[in-house]
Amino acid sequence: MFERPRSGERAVLVRLGLGAPLDPEDLNEFTQLATSAGAIPVVSITGRRDRPDPRFFVGSGKAEEIRLEAEAQQADVILVDHPLSPSQERNLEKLTGRRVLDRSGLILDIFAQRAKSHEGKLEVELAQLKHIASRLVRGWTHLERQRGGGIGLRGPGETQLETDRRLLGKRVSVLTERLQKIKQQRETGRGARVSIPIPSVALVGYTNAGKSTLFRSLTGENAYVADQLFATLDPTVRRLRLPGGTPVVVADTVGFIRDLPHELVAAFQSTLTEAREANLLLHVIDASDPRRAEHIEEVERVLDHIGAGEIPSIRVFNKIDRLEIEPRVDRGEDGAVESVWISAARGVGLELLGRAVAERLQHGVQRMRLTLPLTEGAARARLYAAGVVLDEAPSTEGFDLLVDLPDSEVASLGRLPGAKLVPVASDTLEFSGKTHRRQSGWRQPTLDKR
Ligand code: GTP
Repeated sequence: MFERPRSGERAVLVRLGLGAPLDPEDLNEFTQLATSAGAIPVVSITGRRDRPDPRFFVGSGKAEEIRLEAEAQQADVILVDHPLSPSQERNLEKLTGRRVLDRSGLILDIFAQRAKSHEGKLEVELAQLKHIASRLVRGWTHLERQRGGGIGLRGPGETQLETDRRLLGKRVSVLTERLQKIKQQRETGRGARVSIPIPSVALVGYTNAGKSTLFRSLTGENAYVADQLFATLDPTVRRLRLPGGTPVVVADTVGFIRDLPHELVAAFQSTLTEAREANLLLHVIDASDPRRAEHIEEVERVLDHIGAGEIPSIRVFNKIDRLEIEPRVDRGEDGAVESVWISAARGVGLELLGRAVAERLQHGVQRMRLTLPLTEGAARARLYAAGVVLDEAPSTEGFDLLVDLPDSEVASLGRLPGAKLVPVASDTLEFSGKTHRRQSGWRQPTLDKR
């Protein structure tokens, strides 16, 4: 509804070192962020200050430099990699006669371009409206001649801005209500899924770490991969089988980035549910990034923030082709897998990763012989659908199954009238007079698509 054509706008980038010299990596990331939004960075203005200037954020000399450069380079927009107050943004816009966006505004703009699902779009729109609401007081009349779309004007752009705050408030409550409804529907759907004991694995990580590439190599699906930040906004979910045959649900999720606007973290709570409710997180890390340690910290901080900090996780160091090292698995003192080194793009180390995931998930799974009365056909069907049935012996008195059950399921099946559960050795594959063959291979055909 608010989408406008991408414009390839010429952008002046501004980034200062605050209380310290500017770190060139900060500028690199910001340049990538600007490019991801569709802008063409034409010049970067850098500097150093002890603290922000109340009027322009930068000092008045620097502000003048920005104005002159913007004119010389015929820039359309000024992108500032710091949180600007509404009045600082307005002062800079007045001085330069150009649109000014801070980091939050820019990230929101990228999200507006990327959101594909209905829910994703609503969430981004809501976040944008909240962001804009604080800035609406000033009016955008000083930028009259620049109307017509572009960075920061996508999404609820000028049409909404021209209208009054009352309308804005109304739209916010309509969106909130719709999202609430969708959320309820999701929860209902999820309830149905939770009762099926398929372990779920979520790929999380800093933006551009290679999550979608890994997702695609694992599932053989054409997840969208681009050298852009936040290429994946909406979570995609697929089922696949691990080596040994364990079926899992794998979800690709939105990438994280430092200083993610608060409005967005809040808005994406529900989208990040896939991560929050996973049995195992694969934290994908660009091993070749000089800032990988900081990125790991940032991702862990966000995971804590969304309530996923306690979920077991494996660190997946990706892009080892760039480091020219071999794939490997690192284990902690207790012998549990802590990290796996792979190259998702080259398909190197995926087998190791598959086995590591299976191993971590097997923890808490028991192999059992389960007998159910004939009246429990529905429970039997559910176990088959979950892919936990290894074999079934013919029987006229009931169902006689060899199953791999998660601990949680053992208790609930044990309560079914007439059900009998007998634990068997975990390597038991002999059943009903024949040897059950395990399915193997990490890249089994996808079971279904959701
Ligand atoms: P967001 O959507 O921003 O969260 O990114 P993402 O984590 O899903 O990353 P994506 O899979 O889109 O990959 C980002 C870039 O890294 C792409 O250009 C990939 O081709 C590249 N890439 C992914 N895996 C590898 C790898 O193993 N080696 C190398 N050299 N590049 C890789």
